[in-house]
Amino acid sequence: MKRLLIVAHAPSPNTLRLRAAVENGARHEDIEAVEVVVKPPLEAGPDDILSCDAIILGTTENLGYMSGALKDFFDRSYYPCLEKTQGLPFAYYIRAGHDGTGTNRAIESITTGLRWKLVQDPLICRGEYRDEFEEQCRELGMYVAASLDAGLI
Ligand SMILES: Cc1cc2nc3c(=O)[nH]c(=O)nc-3n(C[C@H](O)[C@H](O)[C@H](O)COP(=O)(O)O)c2cc1C
Repeated sequence: MKRLLIVAHAPSPNTLRLRAAVENGARHEDIEAVEVVVKPPLEAGPDDILSCDAIILGTTENLGYMSGALKDFFDRSYYPCLEKTQGLPFAYYIRAGHDGTGTNRAIESITTGLRWKLVQDPLICRGEYRDEFEEQCRELGMYVAASLDAGLI
């Protein structure tokens, strides 16, 4: 079994829907050999990263940056993981009420430092909430889990 870790901040009903959609896609019935672990960032840490084969991050944009919770997760994980997780496949989604670029830049910068490998274009769910965000999140989860299952990432 491979392990896919989903670490996503979900402080509102909409963002809970997005996280559930990512998980739902990752648990697609045709994906057989991937265990899915879902944690809020404040409950996740370097041990979770060290024991996964791929990671999907999710965050809101708050005040032009990723959520404090996801930032704290990186703060606690960066150095314990730096030498051990180079090449880790990852993807991410951002829920941004109106922008998302500051958060996107910040995640790019931190994950470049970690030398993780981006396996899907960033998904930015921007603007007024739309139901289609959930389908996009579901596809993101399914894509990463299916790629892991097939040994493509
Ligand atoms: C204090 C605060 C700051 C925010 N700052 C930003 C921001 O800088 N950029 C942005 O795109 N959205 C911003 N938002 C909107 C949030 O991204 C959005 O409300 C959040 O992702 C939850 O989505 P929802 O309202 O659909 O549940 C902010 C929201 C709050 C409460």
